[in-house]
Amino acid sequence: TSLAGFIRGLPKAELHLHIEGTLEPELIFALARRNGIALPYASVDTLRAAYRFKDLQSFLDLYYAGASVLVTEDDFEAMTQAYLERAQADGVMHAEIMFDPQTHTARGVAMETIFAGMARAMRRMRESAGLSSRLLLSFLRHLTEQEAMQTLEQALPLRERYDDLWVGIGLDSSERGNPPEKFVRVFERARGLGFRLVAHAGEEGPASYVRNALDMLHVERIDHGVASEQDPALMQRLVRAQIPLTVCPLSNLKLCVFPDLAQHNLARMLRLGAMVTVNSDDPAYFGGYVGDNYLACAHALGLTRAELAGLARNSIAASFLDDKDKQRWL
Ligand code: ADE
Ligand code: ZN
Repeated sequence: TSLAGFIRGLPKAELHLHIEGTLEPELIFALARRNGIALPYASVDTLRAAYRFKDLQSFLDLYYAGASVLVTEDDFEAMTQAYLERAQADGVMHAEIMFDPQTHTARGVAMETIFAGMARAMRRMRESAGLSSRLLLSFLRHLTEQEAMQTLEQALPLRERYDDLWVGIGLDSSERGNPPEKFVRVFERARGLGFRLVAHAGEEGPASYVRNALDMLHVERIDHGVASEQDPALMQRLVRAQIPLTVCPLSNLKLCVFPDLAQHNLARMLRLGAMVTVNSDDPAYFGGYVGDNYLACAHALGLTRAELAGLARNSIAASFLDDKDKQRWL
């Protein structure tokens, strides 16, 4: 079989995926037209041509602008449906989907609209295609902890209605200057409520942010975590405790975290025994879905088929599925 076919056939989970980052330019234009929103781009092609980023912030500016076309429940449903269908085509059996409610509630979109739209697509794909998925509500770290806390409190009344889907919280957006310790209280609150905890750390920020996300926020997984390699003692700890890293190779390439994929540390960390997983982050912006990320790494880093299978197994093992569901794919 071809390498692409081999990768597609591996049962895998996607654990680091921002649903707003799955909005393809075509859908952004369609939703803008439907909602009467003017875009500062003349066409799908000129928008796509603007996807040349120098760092995380230059991407985030475009990503939040793109998300502004999402208004109705139908919009959130269409976005989520398109992603889940694309993921299934890559052999994804389970997806843990982050969303940024503050991006939408700040524009007057109701929390319920966001949940209801995503849930319709997620439940439909569970019924019709057997694809399981969960939601991780992600706080924007460039905003205050108080705003994060208000967002959590705003979502809590919906917890029961979406308890088959909403399992955890995360932390994303501009990392440098917004360290984990800024969010200790809101993570403490979410932990007390029984939510699963993840946070972006060590994408552009230093290894100390990874350490603090573990020690001060008590997260169970680190999103990205590629800066951990700069601190050998931390790296040893990640290996020893098998703390999952949700690595996003094409994202790191597009945001200039690594100058080229051949220099990416995914293979080094994997070969040290770290619990590394491969994910797409914001596939519509970074030029590839999860299968593309596996394939690009296989080529650039010389990953063997056994290593690719190990990465896919890691993704199932590191998921928030219960053990019985994990066993179906392991
Ligand atoms: N939001 C969406 N993608 C992100 C990333 N790669 N890092 C931080 N925040 C994000
Ligand atoms: Zn991310």
